[in-house]
Amino acid sequence: MKKLIKNGTIVTAADVYHADVLIEDGKIAAIGEHVSPHDAEIIDAKGCYVFPGGIDPHTHLDMPFGGTVTKDDFQSGTIAAAFGGTTTVIDFCLTNKGEPLAKAIETWHNKAKGKAVIDYGFHLMISEINDDVLSELPKVIEEEGITSFKVFMAYKNVFQADDGTLYRTLSAAKQLGALVMVHAENGDVIDYLTKQALAEGHTEPIYHALTRPPELEGEATGRACQLTQLADSQLYVVHVSCAQAVEKIAEARNKGLNVWGETCPQYLVLDQSYLEKPNFEGAKYVWSPPLREKWHQEVLWNALKNGQLQTLGSDQCSFDFKGQKELGRDDFTKIPNGGPIIEDRLSILFSEGVKKGRITLNQFVDITSTRIAKLFGLFPKKGTIAVGSDADLVIFDPNVERVISAETHHMAVDYNPFEGMKVAGEPISVLSRGEFVVRDKVFVGKPGYGQYLKREKYGKYTVLNENKKLTI
Ligand code: URP
Ligand code: ZN
Ligand code: ZN
Repeated sequence: MKKLIKNGTIVTAADVYHADVLIEDGKIAAIGEHVSPHDAEIIDAKGCYVFPGGIDPHTHLDMPFGGTVTKDDFQSGTIAAAFGGTTTVIDFCLTNKGEPLAKAIETWHNKAKGKAVIDYGFHLMISEINDDVLSELPKVIEEEGITSFKVFMAYKNVFQADDGTLYRTLSAAKQLGALVMVHAENGDVIDYLTKQALAEGHTEPIYHALTRPPELEGEATGRACQLTQLADSQLYVVHVSCAQAVEKIAEARNKGLNVWGETCPQYLVLDQSYLEKPNFEGAKYVWSPPLREKWHQEVLWNALKNGQLQTLGSDQCSFDFKGQKELGRDDFTKIPNGGPIIEDRLSILFSEGVKKGRITLNQFVDITSTRIAKLFGLFPKKGTIAVGSDADLVIFDPNVERVISAETHHMAVDYNPFEGMKVAGEPISVLSRGEFVVRDKVFVGKPGYGQYLKREKYGKYTVLNENKKLTI
């Protein structure tokens, strides 16, 4: 049946205007003031914004990590995402050295199949480059539609790849039309500082932050930018947490390099002091890169505002406090890194960003959806409200207030890092390809409804002009 969203205010990355949206066969069929078919179900969006569904470019669902497995899988994770206004996730498919990429991708398909309630795609981790990997990459892009690769510059002896691997991945990505994503921290120096701290008897969560100083994120970010320049390729730096990394990204972009940056809600509103909470509660706030001193937050907000950083990912990587974070009670290096953020990504950016005048409404949509769709080969199917686009829509009431709490969130974990935080604005109903996933704040979706997204190659909406100046 057709659906007509009436009386809402449509917000895209470019416009804010009153119009009705007609949905037919899962797509946006018409937008206008006098769209009134007699056979459509009417959905009243009075007083609400109608946003394109959020796209989360950075999730780790059902991922083995730190001696355990993330608590949210593709079912609980995507349900929570939908409650938060996200209608697409791009998850990281891990690979193992010596194992065919196809096997890793199949494993990830099996994790998602029958579970996801919204659409999803995969990025592919590159842990080594050899003839086997190089021969598989064209298939990964052409047949699987996986057009972004991830290289870890940290997590020594676990995920970390060396600079040669990063450079060769950048070169291959340029040839094949893929975007290379990096976790930019200097893993070798962190490994040394960590061992030194433990040898001195420092086992508490705060030492996770103290052994990963922002200089090491800045250094790795700068190194990745230099290698991108050398390979004449393209780079997306995930979870940027500090001024030092922003500076390197801005410097590269000013040179005309094709470098993009993502930050995450936790770095915008939480700070390093949280790791010092008593009774081991600091473990709830262990991320890599770590939370930083508070002054970095304003640098990140300014970078989002002036376009030096372009996107917001959740880096959803959730572990229970009890039984999982607790693995590191006697040794901070054993605390599984990451947190539950997928549900509150949009709320925090809207409340702390738009409501507080740090970014505009259009920027909010660009940062959480449109730019991500453009960078990761999903635009204009996803990421905007336009005739022909998928009807992935969020009806968002900007005036309600709610308090974030583990008591009410939909993630499968036993704590929320933003517990007690008041946020303005809330998704009321969320549609994926024209079907309600959340209706009037109640889940009405179906596990298995979410479709796998084959993505287009990098570059269609991110073209450099002749002077190598960025044009979007
Ligand atoms: O602490 C984090 N960020 N955990 C998830 C894995 C990663 O590095 O992105
Ligand atoms: Zn990372
Ligand atoms: Zn991550």
